[in-house]
Amino acid sequence: MNGVTDDNTPSKKVANQYERGYDYTKYWDNRDYENAAEHIAIRRLLKGSHFRSAADIGGGFGRLCILLRTFADKVTLAEPAASQLEAAKEVLAGTDIAQVQMQADDLSFADGELDLVTMVRVMHHLPEPSAEFTEIARVLAPGGTAIIEVANYGHYKNRRRHKKEGKPLPIEPVSIRTVKADEPDAIAFVNHNIDTVVGQLAAAGLQLDSKLSVSNLRSQRLKKALPKSVMLAAERITQKRLAKNNFGPSIFLKLKKA
Ligand SMILES: C[S@@+](CC[C@H](N)C(=O)[O-])C[C@H]1O[C@@H](n2cnc3c(N)ncnc32)[C@H](O)[C@@H]1O
Repeated sequence: MNGVTDDNTPSKKVANQYERGYDYTKYWDNRDYENAAEHIAIRRLLKGSHFRSAADIGGGFGRLCILLRTFADKVTLAEPAASQLEAAKEVLAGTDIAQVQMQADDLSFADGELDLVTMVRVMHHLPEPSAEFTEIARVLAPGGTAIIEVANYGHYKNRRRHKKEGKPLPIEPVSIRTVKADEPDAIAFVNHNIDTVVGQLAAAGLQLDSKLSVSNLRSQRLKKALPKSVMLAAERITQKRLAKNNFGPSIFLKLKKA
């Protein structure tokens, strides 16, 4: 929580909002397509690589950690919410994946300790992610890889709407909160301009290597009409092709630390 300490200096924000009676595991009910689309994207971006030490930042209950373990000798789930770490104990039982409480702007890794960092579905909670990007760059070894998923404001539908209205896409993050927040430190919900984020990452020393457009068929109507196998076949074909124009709601950026 943002606030002030006894000596009147601003205290660090604490990203513990996922501890407040919200069962994130349930969010994935009926989202098999999105989950599989993200696994496809990560596999594709990491194909042929193997890492010494990886961390999934804001990794929640560890949804992606077992996949990451196939690409890295050591994986740490780095997550600020105690309730998510509690859920992870079950999800990751029987694995050697470390589970550590920390948040993205204050990572308890040494400089250059990791050679792979992932951060998926966290950017929509970070309207101003520069401190987090600086931390990620710090903990990555030179030449290290980061995969950062960004909730994309400029997806196909918004792009079309803006064009119709003759309005350029905003370069700043856009709040997508639909219900008024009832807590002063309620977590942010934003979508980002991908080019702005790529610029912020470059300023932190993380250079864009490649990107994928993910969950390109995210639509209740399509999910009802088409078998999952067809959805995923289309997803596989489109992730690379549609990345250039940032088509989908979710853009996976692969970055390298210079
Ligand atoms: C939508 S969940 C995504 C979880 C996981 N990455 C996944 O894709 O399944 C967002 C996660 O980000 C975490 N989070 C929120 N703010 C954060 C921050 N500043 N630093 C690190 N994690 C944060 C939350 O606690 C939550 O677990």
